[in-house]
Amino acid sequence: MSRVTFELNGSPTTVERSARRLSQVLREDLGLTGTKVGCDAGDCGACTVLLDGEAVSACMTSVGSLDRRRVVTIEGLDASGEVAALQRAFLLHGAAQCGICTPGMLVSAAALLRTTPEPTEEEVKDGLGGVLCRCTGYRPIVAAVLSASDPSAEDQPMAGPPAGKAVGARVARVDGRAKVRGTDVFGDDEAPEGALVASVIRSPFHRAEFELGDLDGFVSATPGIEAVFTASDIPGRNRFGVIPATADQPVFAQGCARFRGEAIAMVVGEASAIADLDPAAFPVTWTELPPVMTIEEATAEGAPRLHDGREGNVLIRGHVRRGDLDAAFASAEVVVEAEFETACIEHACIEPEAGFAERIGDRLEVQVCTQSPHLDREELEAILGLEEGAVRIRPTAVGGGFGTKLDLSVQPYVALAAWHLRRPVRLAYTRPESMTSTTKRHPSRMRLRAGATRRGRLVAMDVVGEFNTGAYASWGATVANRVPVHAGGPYVYDAYRARTVAVHTNGPVAGAMRGFGVPQSTIAQECLFDELADAVGLDRLEFRLRNALTAGVPTVTGQVFASGVGYRECLEALRPVWEHARTEAAAVNATARVRRRGVGLAGMWYGCGNTALPNPSTIRVGLHRDGHVVLFQGAVDMGQGANTVMTQICADAVGIEMERIRTRGADTDTTPDAGKSSASRQTFVSGNATYLAGTRLRGQLLELAGASGEAHLELEDGRLIVHNRGATSEVRLGELASDAEGLVAVVQETFEPPTTALDEDGQGDPYAQFGYGAHLTELEVD
Ligand code: FES
Repeated sequence: MSRVTFELNGSPTTVERSARRLSQVLREDLGLTGTKVGCDAGDCGACTVLLDGEAVSACMTSVGSLDRRRVVTIEGLDASGEVAALQRAFLLHGAAQCGICTPGMLVSAAALLRTTPEPTEEEVKDGLGGVLCRCTGYRPIVAAVLSASDPSAEDQPMAGPPAGKAVGARVARVDGRAKVRGTDVFGDDEAPEGALVASVIRSPFHRAEFELGDLDGFVSATPGIEAVFTASDIPGRNRFGVIPATADQPVFAQGCARFRGEAIAMVVGEASAIADLDPAAFPVTWTELPPVMTIEEATAEGAPRLHDGREGNVLIRGHVRRGDLDAAFASAEVVVEAEFETACIEHACIEPEAGFAERIGDRLEVQVCTQSPHLDREELEAILGLEEGAVRIRPTAVGGGFGTKLDLSVQPYVALAAWHLRRPVRLAYTRPESMTSTTKRHPSRMRLRAGATRRGRLVAMDVVGEFNTGAYASWGATVANRVPVHAGGPYVYDAYRARTVAVHTNGPVAGAMRGFGVPQSTIAQECLFDELADAVGLDRLEFRLRNALTAGVPTVTGQVFASGVGYRECLEALRPVWEHARTEAAAVNATARVRRRGVGLAGMWYGCGNTALPNPSTIRVGLHRDGHVVLFQGAVDMGQGANTVMTQICADAVGIEMERIRTRGADTDTTPDAGKSSASRQTFVSGNATYLAGTRLRGQLLELAGASGEAHLELEDGRLIVHNRGATSEVRLGELASDAEGLVAVVQETFEPPTTALDEDGQGDPYAQFGYGAHLTELEVD
């Protein structure tokens, strides 16, 4: 076998000569998993490495072409210290969020700075143009590269805030070092030696009947293939779904596929055999059937029904009603109405879904990228027919979630195969597989009518929203409960009505994506308000301010907040920029012929957590005998910063410095259930649970030291030092009794947001807190 020798991170390296991708050889053969794989097509840049000093995509570079060439990966740049300033700047600027794009960004930035040590902003944008980021919006990344390359920029120290001052301080992510070094472990970065690989066989049609052929014959005729699994191999329930009442998606379809990309079977084998597998050779006979792809087709008379018991293909309907709508419209002096459509949107996390499972005795451990570990555990136990607690979920870092990693993806497949075969099994979705098989943002059609007085006071709003929820329920129910509450925006009306419906089609499964249907209704409502403001002759910002919800005024569900309604402040914050930008745009457009400028603004609100349903979070905190507080926080951090936020809150609640806290991220065996990382809930719900637990632990420590509430606590190696009313005392922690984990004190607290069920008109307190926002865009069009 011929070999190829090249220099890798400064050392001579020899590998088998082949056409394999450099990204694959680096990750699988050489253990350099800092080079990420997002698309395997040269599009996303996550696998960027330096080849003879030039930034290239490792997925588009064959190892056969590397003779005598020099390859440098993030690991090499990290070890040499070449990117130290960039790494520091990325942490300072919050430029590494989920971190999956970070190695590619750093490698590209290093290539740029080698040739252009002090680049302009345009040169930075150009230099990083080959690497995609789905979290940051790029601005922090560009700012980080500019500051790292600016000799006059102050090299700010990364010291943590003093005790009691962590919340509100600008701190580096507690998990940031691993992200900027390329050592953070994502879904496909680890697998046990010799793990088998799974490949899912999927429907090529939107709607089709199918018959499986000779599966045993296929296995014995295909070298390296260990087994094929179908619905008949599922020991428990062949059904999953994030909302128990509507859970309807089979792990493997039986006889009929309802969307293109639906799983019907799984082939498991050695990695090389799976790499060579031709899905077209799988023994299955398809009969394609005419699909229903739109809401019109799905609700037409005689349309094929996707699910028994769901008449007219309607998954669910929802509504909110408040006040006398007819009377309110009758009193309106100006009425506008419009219809809006929004499209299906793919989350396009840079990290495709990935993980592995291994059976350990009568338990199963699954390491996977997920936003909802405890929900995954429950669903896998049901699918495998196992007792509660038999499955352990160890979430990896999540390379972007945005809602799509709330639902099961690879989990049931690796779990089923590992359980039956008693060997570890791994699976990483390809980019096309991720796109076809996972959830999407609901396509929608919104019809709205709004009325106001001539002076610009809103009086009435009527909303009808139709959502294409695809073949299975997933989070479809949220368009019935969350959207009607939000569709009027953070504004005050005399009367309001919103009615929504989720309709099944043979389209992709629609689920959670940044807002569960709310952005669709917000786009429509805010666009309509521009028209209404114009119709009554008011400035668009002024119109919103005049009608903005404030504390003490009922929302459209009759909920009254005594405080914490910050919408007016958001709008006011925009006022100076709004006025300046409009004046500037008018000046530009007065003479512009080709490029003309527009300025737009919009506001929003968003209820934190489940809608009118229980939504608890539990957090555990303990004091270790070595002088650290250990925070067991199970809120998955997919880039939004849960690990850091909980650590900040814990530090202030206990009254110690952040540096004295060791944060343990989610693991269903070791961290209590902090609920899903979804619906903007973790900072509020798990944050409150952290605060409660930290406060109680502080109480225990004070009691231990016989100190009063205002005492100042310090932790040093093995010692708790207490400064109280001018005196200092010390507790030697090693002399105290500790549990198996070395904790001398431990507490656990749960926070349940106070909400109420909604009545038949949708009235009640669906959320304990809303978040508010407003933003402005200046756009130039050629
Ligand atoms: Fe860039 Fe998440 S930080 S993709």
